Amino acid sequence: MTLSIVILAAGKGKRMHSQIPKVLHPLGGKSLIEHVVTTAQALNPSNPPIIVIGHEGEKVRKALEHHPITWVEQKEQLGTGHALLQALPNIPDSDSVLVLCGDTPLISVETLQRLISATPKNAIGIITAKFPNPSGLGRIVRDSQNNIIQIIEEKDANETFRNIQEINSGFYFIPAKFLKTWLPTLNNTNAQKEYYLTDIIAKSVKEKTAIHSVQPRNTEEVYGINDRAQLAILERFYQKQLAEKLMREGVTLLDPNRFDVRGELTIGQDVTIDVNVIFEGSVTIGSHCIIGPNCILKNALLADGVEIKANSIIEGAEIAEKCVIGPFARIRPDTKLSPNVHIGNFVEIKKSWVDTGTKINHLSYVGDSEIGSQVNIGAGTITCNYDGANKHKTIIGNNVFIGSNSQLVAPVQIGEGATIGAGSTITQNAPANQLTICRAKQITIENWQRPKKEKET
Ligand code: UD1
Ligand code: CA
Repeated sequence: MTLSIVILAAGKGKRMHSQIPKVLHPLGGKSLIEHVVTTAQALNPSNPPIIVIGHEGEKVRKALEHHPITWVEQKEQLGTGHALLQALPNIPDSDSVLVLCGDTPLISVETLQRLISATPKNAIGIITAKFPNPSGLGRIVRDSQNNIIQIIEEKDANETFRNIQEINSGFYFIPAKFLKTWLPTLNNTNAQKEYYLTDIIAKSVKEKTAIHSVQPRNTEEVYGINDRAQLAILERFYQKQLAEKLMREGVTLLDPNRFDVRGELTIGQDVTIDVNVIFEGSVTIGSHCIIGPNCILKNALLADGVEIKANSIIEGAEIAEKCVIGPFARIRPDTKLSPNVHIGNFVEIKKSWVDTGTKINHLSYVGDSEIGSQVNIGAGTITCNYDGANKHKTIIGNNVFIGSNSQLVAPVQIGEGATIGAGSTITQNAPANQLTICRAKQITIENWQRPKKEKET
């Protein structure tokens, strides 16, 4: 048997009330359909997955342009059976077809493998689940021997059928030859005037084809997204699963309900993460790190023993061992901090390299800079990197001391061991090992008096 995978994703997703196609809405920072595509690829199908697109299909295609996919268009959305029919010309008769839904993102590789391996040859496999509130979903009808005999959509169901709690998940494993025989014969005489894929169940019963059902480990795996409330429920479930996995691997989360990963997160051991931390893109964290509350870490690399204090934002940066950052610090892209660097409150660093043991502890902007080791940057220091048209570099040697409230007007270099007097506006290079000051000379005006308030007449 060779495996073909078809993902249905042509529907409008009306209930999202959105300009964005439903399957492109994000869950855990990745579109719904990308989750499904990643799962499909993990099953090693013989050919790239086939995705049926229609409504706003171009956007879906664009969003997945880096994945190998065979695209099929369903010009009019006439129902799930009609959608799958469009994919059949791409599938050899001898294949078996795994049907997935673009709006049901958390189906697991394990459950699908179980569906594939448990379905006997020449039988139909289907994933079903018991939902306490099955409203809106297709119901599984079984006979007295517990065999599946039909799927009834809610809109076509009378009260007896509506009371059934076993639902159709929309995942099937079916020999292609059956689909090629049955799908062209579907009709749309139902409440929604659609060609229902689910109607092939009744056809298979008529032809005495066995139907085998499999249940997922978590019902959330088969939870389809139709509106934003469902999206939020599934987002929380997804985050909770990730949180539990990390805790099992040795990460302390002070509250797993207030933890969000929107991308890929890799963490070493004995890391503590406080509440409301958001991880975006690709984030790697070493061991023995502490991340304070309300931080955002995006595309960042943290080595061992780093501490990020409350309310800091780190993006596109590489932070070496034992750096201490924050609270209220902002590290922007292309920043590299060597070991033991301290960045304090209200400090912004952009596109800069700060070498070992340097401290920038209060109220500074450092951009387009190279700062040596063991440097002390005083409170309120600004690198003036922008002349209104171009960006220029500030280069500071090892062991430099920059006095508070200094402006370093780039391009400028401060030699090794230099001291800059507080309040200086440095526009020319400062020599090594000497004190450079550039500010108005302090004078005292004797006998000067404060103006007095004139008496009201
Ligand atoms: C479908 C099932 C229902 C099941 C539910 C599970 C049918 C008739 N019903 O209902 O039994 O309980 O899924 O979530 O199959 N699509 C197309 N083209 C179309 C229509 C739909 O590609 O013309 C795609 C959608 O983009 C979506 C999937 O098929 O990814 C399911 O369609 P949807 O309209 O959401 O079906 P449900 O009413 O949820
Ligand atoms: Ca649906």
